[in-house]
Amino acid sequence: MYRLILILLFSAFAWADEVQILYASKVKSLYKEGEIKIVGRLLPTAKVEVMERKDGRVLLRIQGYAPKAQRQALYFAPNRRILNAGFSKNAGLSFEVLQTINDSESRSDWELASIALWSEDSDLVAEVAPLYAEANELFTSRCSICHALHPAKEFNANQWGSVIKSMKSRVGFDSDTEQLVVQYLSKNAKDMPKESK
Ligand code: HEC
Repeated sequence: MYRLILILLFSAFAWADEVQILYASKVKSLYKEGEIKIVGRLLPTAKVEVMERKDGRVLLRIQGYAPKAQRQALYFAPNRRILNAGFSKNAGLSFEVLQTINDSESRSDWELASIALWSEDSDLVAEVAPLYAEANELFTSRCSICHALHPAKEFNANQWGSVIKSMKSRVGFDSDTEQLVVQYLSKNAKDMPKESK
């Protein structure tokens, strides 16, 4: 009984503190507060934390890895070209560095960093699994029309972007669909999941 009360108390606190986690379902534009100039793009399936909502926009906290002191993009994993978000050059963005790690594979330092930017309050979903299921369905149905399906594990994460780019006109993917399928395949590639160290 005592244990149950503790659990209930704990979950009440957890509830009060709960942040809203969402996932982009399309390629989304990113802005600085009160501006209309696009300073970056958020990729489908990227995980974000909602910090504030105002006038049809949401303030999102985006996290990811970047080579030390070169925060042009935030990646899903160190040394893998899987974008969570990409940013314009000289946008004067301020990142928060959460951790620096030495990646054993690239033998270089990578930072886990985060940034808060605004986006339209749309194309954000609570669950990521349906997005991957949609990507898998598109991939298996469209990419096996002319030849046998090349499985996700046939290529490394960094190769899938160019494979899909070269095939996209054959399947008629628009850019949102292309990015969704690339995310799905890269995250299930031969060299994924990457052991983080
Ligand atoms: C309309 C027919 C068609 C469709 C649909 C198609 N492909 Fe292809 N694919 C080809 C042809 C033809 C080749 C042979 C090489 C070439 O012409 O580029 C090929 C080659 C490939 C290769 C081998 C490339 C290499 O360098 O080994 C891969 C991988 C591939 N396709 C992946 C895909 C994926 C992923 C999709 C779905 C997004 C897809 N294909 C959809 C026609 C198609």
